Amino acid sequence: MSVDITASAAWRKLQDHHEAIAALRLRDLFADDPARGRDLRVTAGDLLIDYSKHRITRETLRLLVELADEAGVAAQRDRMLQGSHINTSEDRAVGHTALRLPPGSSVTIDGEDAGAAVHEVLGRMRDFADAVRSGQWRGATGQRIHTVVNIGIGGSDLGPVMVHQALRHYVDAGIDARFVSNVDPADLVAKLAGLDPATTLFIVASKTFSTLETLTNATAARRWLTAALGADAVAKHFVAVSTNAERVAEFGIDTATMFGFWDWVGGRYSVDSAIGLSVMVTVGPDRFAEFLAGMHTMDRHFATAPPETNAPMLLALLGVWYSNFFGAQSRAVLPYSNDLARFPAYLQQLTMESNGKSVRADGTPVTTSTGEIFWGEPGTNGQHAFYQLLHQGTRLIPADFIGFARPTDDLPTRDGTGSMHDILMSNLFAQTKVLAFGKTAEEIAAEGTPPELVPHKVMPGNRPSTTILAPQLTPAVLGQLIALYEHQVFVAGVVWGIDSFDQWGVELGKQQALELAPLLTSAEDPAPQGDSSTDHLIRWYRDNR
Ligand code: F6P
Repeated sequence: MSVDITASAAWRKLQDHHEAIAALRLRDLFADDPARGRDLRVTAGDLLIDYSKHRITRETLRLLVELADEAGVAAQRDRMLQGSHINTSEDRAVGHTALRLPPGSSVTIDGEDAGAAVHEVLGRMRDFADAVRSGQWRGATGQRIHTVVNIGIGGSDLGPVMVHQALRHYVDAGIDARFVSNVDPADLVAKLAGLDPATTLFIVASKTFSTLETLTNATAARRWLTAALGADAVAKHFVAVSTNAERVAEFGIDTATMFGFWDWVGGRYSVDSAIGLSVMVTVGPDRFAEFLAGMHTMDRHFATAPPETNAPMLLALLGVWYSNFFGAQSRAVLPYSNDLARFPAYLQQLTMESNGKSVRADGTPVTTSTGEIFWGEPGTNGQHAFYQLLHQGTRLIPADFIGFARPTDDLPTRDGTGSMHDILMSNLFAQTKVLAFGKTAEEIAAEGTPPELVPHKVMPGNRPSTTILAPQLTPAVLGQLIALYEHQVFVAGVVWGIDSFDQWGVELGKQQALELAPLLTSAEDPAPQGDSSTDHLIRWYRDNR
């Protein structure tokens, strides 16, 4: 039986506490407690996380930690780290943290030495990546590989594509990567444009190897290749990443060039498995190992830090605080790093596929809202698009700001005396300051603003944000950031009592798409589909295609 956290004493205390402090203003909280900015922050690995600009007091934190206690977060965390079957609706172990265990340490999952299995695959990935990078692995015509094209979707795409962009500075063997995911043919056609089949290697990445989009794109890519180089070329230009050897072989890829993983790795938790092969090829096995080590650093922090200084726990509890007590609907993720442009999209799958659930693990309905909606764009672009609503809109949208002390690229400012990266970071600091403290009508009037304009210029402030800073966007830091969010999604799921590792909600749409597909092109009039909207839409499509 799942715990109904909303019936707990800790929840009731938080409700009362919320009533008592909801009207407090960050301006006053900072004025009353000069040590707040120094104290309400935590370090985890290389990350400095400032959570002082949240609408909390030290008592709020104490009560949130009590909530985590009551929800059994620490015990469930330990079960996850031991690879237990906490994905109950699929009766599967959850073991993604085993993917980044250092050599020599291990955990037993489903009776097997997961550490040994992981390092066996990592070793094969390393050999393969080295061979491609050094030119020992060549295409069917004897030419070196210049481009890897990863074909996958969801967790078999979003992680690699995000990490490839984030680590573009570490691409060092003259091999580029492209990523194809959408069943919209525009994706594959655009990504193949300009590529030479003789120098292109496809990595077909699919946990199940049954995903419509991926198999459709992979088949089309194989046609593109064989039209140029003949059927025998497939072996040198297609490799697979999957848990399903049978289907890989059925597709026509030699299982000797298949890199496996396990059903205890959820798709959205798989970038550090063989699903990251495209990244390993472009940045090299050593950088990939640093990426894994970064994730492990955060795993250790999550496993050992007490709740009050445990970064993933704090971020999760703050998410719960705003979602369930302030009624916030979403969280903005705002990386002040263009290289992290795909990070918000990556986190969307992580959090929304994991925690977008209406029933608890035992099937009983939840009694509070779950599943934060993550969205965002890199700063400063977002500032010129949607920050207006963050600052003066009627919704409360907590935001995570992410920035780095040292740039991956830098250029001088207009007058040549400063650094563009410093301007970028000054914007990050300014935004969090303005969100928190705003500007009052009195302050605006005192500047001589005409009275009729004053209300338009008032900046309400009191809008919460977390600031996450790191020295530089290195492979290790990226690994830490990803694991930070993985674990905070997990903690929120435990508080809500849901199974964060299944995704039944995506199945029906897939099934119905397969059923509807023949109706779009059949010679006969399509049979009614049970609702007049779908019938009319299909008719329109048939008339206009
Ligand atoms: O549709 C959801 C999903 O199952 C994701 O969870 C997964 O990451 C994605 O599809 C791709 O699945 P696969 O790796 O099996 O192709």
